Amino acid sequence: MTNVFAGKNIILGVTGSIAAFKVAGWVSTLAKEEANVSVIMTDSARRFVTPLTFEALSGNKTYCSMFGSSDRDSMAHISLGREADLLLIAPATANTIARLANGIADDLLTTTALVTRAGVFICPAMNSKMYSHPATVTNIRKLKKIGYHVLDPAHGMMACKEEGEGRLAEWDDVAEYLAKALTEQEFIGKKVLITAGPTREPLDPARFLSNRSSGKMGYAMARSAFRRGADVTLISGPTALSCPTGVNRIEVESAQDMFDAVLKRSGKTDIIVKTSAVADYRPAKRAEHKVKKEQIEPHLCLKQNPDILYELGKRKTEGQILIGFAAESQDLRAAGMRKLKKKNLDLIAVNDISGTNSGFESENNQVLLLFSDGSVDLPHTSKQHTADLIWDKIVLLS
Ligand code: CTP
Repeated sequence: MTNVFAGKNIILGVTGSIAAFKVAGWVSTLAKEEANVSVIMTDSARRFVTPLTFEALSGNKTYCSMFGSSDRDSMAHISLGREADLLLIAPATANTIARLANGIADDLLTTTALVTRAGVFICPAMNSKMYSHPATVTNIRKLKKIGYHVLDPAHGMMACKEEGEGRLAEWDDVAEYLAKALTEQEFIGKKVLITAGPTREPLDPARFLSNRSSGKMGYAMARSAFRRGADVTLISGPTALSCPTGVNRIEVESAQDMFDAVLKRSGKTDIIVKTSAVADYRPAKRAEHKVKKEQIEPHLCLKQNPDILYELGKRKTEGQILIGFAAESQDLRAAGMRKLKKKNLDLIAVNDISGTNSGFESENNQVLLLFSDGSVDLPHTSKQHTADLIWDKIVLLS
């Protein structure tokens, strides 16, 4: 994926929670992504982790005081706030949240928060009773009203051995929200529907017909659309993948389930992307109970499933963009063009599945994009990067 963090000035405000040690890993990841990370620590944060930890990981000075020794330090709240592309406060204690909510500027971090006009992201971390206290709830509401992004803490066992809500959010989720904040919001206000993965066509409660689709390409398309500001619904067949951050996932099994779920939503959708590998046929009969091997007939009787994309093409509304995927092992261009026309598509991405290093299950892909009036050969690259390149082209269609 395009590295959105490279060259960005990210300020990380660390406050006094035991979760402070976790964000050391975040700094290390951001630094590897070539972000310029400057860490500000509150006095209580320094009781948990030393400034040196963050200096070593970020390669930058860690700021701890309003009143530094050099000229630059004494104006750090202005310069850091002014130059920031993002201010991330993690972990954020109830006390820091209260100070931020009330505009109190009594240390370098809270003062910098008042100076910056960059996006401010806050990751609360505290005991669940403190988190659910009406004072904290009110303060978080105030922060949201100011325009700060408060990311929900996770649920689980905390350092105080209590279980509940209040654990520091997971980095993977935080990273997606930060990436979104640093990405051009080309699809803001657009509803995007993506289908992904295989379908399963049951023979009996234990057996089904399916295919080799992993869902990776569709999930990558969903992740990239979320980053660009779209309201994303992902209708997914069974996969081993976790739901991408910020995406509304609807899980389905069979082609008929997928058809029903897609048709229910397609009318109100601006862009539909069908990456899923829908089974063209299903067993004509589904046995209610597991069939014993002696009773299995050697020939399967099949029934054709609806062609979801074809049906969407027939129902396409004014301005709606319809995108298909096709897995082909020969005559890519001709086969893709036939499907583009037949299914009334604006774009089709044709996968070459003849090799082993792209297509099904692979981390990488190489696709040929076909439009009614032209084509683009994308390079062999990761599925996430391929998704990004495809969205670059979809922007031109919308
Ligand atoms: N598709 C669909 N419903 C189906 C079959 C396919 O919506 N029953 C969609 C896929 O999600 C994909 C596109 O149609 O976006 C092309 O899928 P593909 O399997 O390549 O095409 P088919 O029309 O099934 O043609 P064939 O399998 O004969 O190559």
